[in-house]
Amino acid sequence: MHLIVTKDSDEIANLLSKIVIGLVNQKSNAVLGLATGSSPIATYKLLIEDHQTNKTDWSNVSTFNLDEYVGLQQENHNSYHYFMEEQLFKHLNIKKANIHIPNGLGDVKQNATEYEKLISEHQQIDFQILGIGSNGHIGFNEPGSDVKSVTRVVELSKETIQANKRFFASSQDTVPTQAITMGIATILKAKNIVLIATGKNKAEAVKALVQGKVSEKWPCSYLQNHPSVLILADQAAASLLEQKS
Ligand code: F6R
Repeated sequence: MHLIVTKDSDEIANLLSKIVIGLVNQKSNAVLGLATGSSPIATYKLLIEDHQTNKTDWSNVSTFNLDEYVGLQQENHNSYHYFMEEQLFKHLNIKKANIHIPNGLGDVKQNATEYEKLISEHQQIDFQILGIGSNGHIGFNEPGSDVKSVTRVVELSKETIQANKRFFASSQDTVPTQAITMGIATILKAKNIVLIATGKNKAEAVKALVQGKVSEKWPCSYLQNHPSVLILADQAAASLLEQKS
């Protein structure tokens, strides 16, 4: 596990976008695992800028998103389908057929099983981008998630529902209580993983991730078992780490 503490979130976006652009340039059919939420937005902006300026070619890249809420139409402004389309995909020359996001409508249990199958039958994810919840969740693998868990329907914790309310502020919708998420085992199958963390409210989770005991109480700690994990944390998110790291 490698840790880089940056001075701020802009530095994280700079570093991460350079890594992704480097990978896409070097491997035209790269497979990316993508996250939603606030953390990756600045990085996605830089990927769009780069595509517009340098014409980086996304036509053979494929993507797998980590998660989606249960019960939201894709056009709903709070769905992760909508988020990804607006924040990234519609600005790139990526093919629709190469974009994969769990389907949170209909028979969601079956959709989760099919999504896991799709990932396992596809070429390995080269590079998985993760954010982190203040309770240590990765994807929507909340505390208590098993290391062997695969893509499935989960109940969101009270803490996650509370944290994600900010995105729903201007809408009539309430935060869904369930989501489909890649499991811990699914995430750990990626070749390389980068986790980004910004802000003081992530500091306890970052400490558990880097210096805690591997435990289901902090699902992020399972990443300690992966051979290629890079953590990009700003000073606030890294503020509880003891000097040894
Ligand atoms: C999003 C996801 C979540 C978020 C996490 C942090 O696809 O899987 O694990 O990465 O909740 O969210 P932000 O970045 O909004 O603080």
